[in-house]
Amino acid sequence: MRADKDFRENTRARTETVKPLLQVREIEKRYGARIGCTGVNFDLYPGEVMGIVGESGSGKSTLLNCLAGHLEPDAGQVIFDTRADGPVDTVTMSEPERRMLSRTDWAFVHQHARDGLRTSVSAGGNIGERLMAVGDRHYGNIRERAIDWLGRVEISETRVDDRPTAFSGGMQQRLQIARNLVTGPRLVFMDEPTGGLDVSVQARLLDLLRGLVREMGLSALIVTHDLAVVRLLADRLMVMKDGHVVETGLTDQVLDDPQHAYTQLLVSSVLQV
Ligand SMILES: Nc1ncnc2c1ncn2[C@@H]1O[C@H](COP(=O)(O)OP(=O)(O)O)[C@@H](O)[C@H]1O
Ligand SMILES: [Mg+2]
Repeated sequence: MRADKDFRENTRARTETVKPLLQVREIEKRYGARIGCTGVNFDLYPGEVMGIVGESGSGKSTLLNCLAGHLEPDAGQVIFDTRADGPVDTVTMSEPERRMLSRTDWAFVHQHARDGLRTSVSAGGNIGERLMAVGDRHYGNIRERAIDWLGRVEISETRVDDRPTAFSGGMQQRLQIARNLVTGPRLVFMDEPTGGLDVSVQARLLDLLRGLVREMGLSALIVTHDLAVVRLLADRLMVMKDGHVVETGLTDQVLDDPQHAYTQLLVSSVLQV
């Protein structure tokens, strides 16, 4: 794991000079009297992968959905460093502006691939659709890029005209990833990307994700209850409990030397997650 350490050192060194891609300030979301998440603050730097862990019901998905513009937080700011205008609060930007961001600079990988795919459209069409949404109209070019992306997620070119419903769970998830990454986003949100897949399929998907994240220099927020996922993918970790962030730090530090009692339980797997 020597290469990993070097990578993280480099990431850390870079963060001292580069401005954050995402600045999250005092995010809160309530469901009536119930707290979804509250008082969440962090910065995410270009090329950095942040893991968000915690038991079921701790607020991970609520937070991720607030950050990705799927849920409106009751309080707080989500400041994204846009290409055109620099840092902008995405909570208060207009709906069309937010929609444009989610087609271009942002990507969202759902736990259940079917939530992120169009099952009535071919595999190639699922990838091509994202390109068309950002203005690509050249059929030959779209098909060529779709085929290239199928290859990158280890799906045979011969499946380009098949519907995703004919694919295995692992293939569907890889297709969802291709559809998300084809437009070259800068920030990828993932909610339990390996959840619900067989263990052997998970390992392959994780390897693939790890390669793509590094190669494309992606920033990512990965929600998971699986510590093996963050061990492999995340530079930094945020541990959530009852809607609050209880611990943050470099992944190795948090997992090898957890400070908060809850994190200690989580790491020792005493907690049922
Ligand atoms: N749509 C909703 N309506 C009411 N309560 C919700 C809703 N979604 C989530 N919650 C509650 O918010 C808290 C955080 O849930 P969630 O963000 O789904 O956690 P996690 O993703 O960590 O499992 C839980 O107490 C959950 O019951
Ligand atoms: Mg969840």
